[in-house]
Amino acid sequence: MDSPHDFHDVETTLQAIRLELHRENLGGAQELVRAAAATHPDPRYEELAAKIRGWLSHLDSRDAYVRAQETQYRRLRWDIGLKWIERRMRVLLGRKTKKLVRRRAAKPEFELLEREILAHRPARVLDGGSGEGGAALAVGARHPWLRVDGVEVSETNVTLARQLNRFPNVTFRVGLLEEVHQLFPPATFDLVYSFAVLEHVRDVDATLASMLTVLKPGGRLCFVVPMHEFVAAGPIPEYEPIHGYCDHVRIFTEAELNSRFADRPGFSLTKIPSVPKPGEILDCLKIIEFGAFFVAFSMPA
Ligand SMILES: C[S@@+](CC[C@H](N)C(=O)[O-])C[C@H]1O[C@@H](n2cnc3c(N)ncnc32)[C@H](O)[C@@H]1O
Repeated sequence: MDSPHDFHDVETTLQAIRLELHRENLGGAQELVRAAAATHPDPRYEELAAKIRGWLSHLDSRDAYVRAQETQYRRLRWDIGLKWIERRMRVLLGRKTKKLVRRRAAKPEFELLEREILAHRPARVLDGGSGEGGAALAVGARHPWLRVDGVEVSETNVTLARQLNRFPNVTFRVGLLEEVHQLFPPATFDLVYSFAVLEHVRDVDATLASMLTVLKPGGRLCFVVPMHEFVAAGPIPEYEPIHGYCDHVRIFTEAELNSRFADRPGFSLTKIPSVPKPGEILDCLKIIEFGAFFVAFSMPA
């Protein structure tokens, strides 16, 4: 198919690439910049292509990926000082756990997950990319008859989740979601869910395959991914990733999710609209849709 872009018009093409970067469509941005540089070699294309490669260098190897995630969370969570001491006290007293469970349970994506739990009554549940443990702890606290395993790449997050854990039916371990098939026997879980992780992983297909391997026949798979749809409403400034690298490396669209999963048994896709935080989205971007998609389907029985 012919490209709709005139790659000789460098400024307009750079705007189109920046839009893809802000949409977190890193693959799309890379494709565009490569096609542009191949058609019309220009140092600005070369420079941007090199920057994008750098922002994605944590995807080059398993070790680089693990290091990037751990470094980010270590920096975010281990702030020494009064705030840390106060936080430790609340953790020790169990106050933080109570608050976390209460807050999580009120979130729309958690309500959707809970609907799945009540409909399917899973005995074993896997939380992939469990972070500080908020969702897994809320699931375990509110449904003591089931057992939840949280798997999380960042050691810092696993340490925090374990400190917060007050529930005998919840456990956390360090690991990669794309490797859960190596951590658990096949068909271990009745429900596998993952909130806000698939937009990060190195390989979505491998990750989904791993999640499905540990799911029992007839089991339920649920995931939440961002719903970001913008168009340009003015000149887009240069893109700079917040953490120094692109933590979110892909976007999911409704059309893609439908074409990929709609033929799975018991498929559902629910949009969870939300409002961006002040300053989260640049004024030069017009929001078409913002929030998250909740996707669920079953393994054939
Ligand atoms: C945005 S946070 C979401 C945490 C949690 N699911 C929640 O909803 O609160 C993403 C989490 O996924 C973890 N993560 C990213 N890639 C992962 C992977 N491949 N395997 C396991 N955990 C991963 C990150 O370390 C981080 O804790």
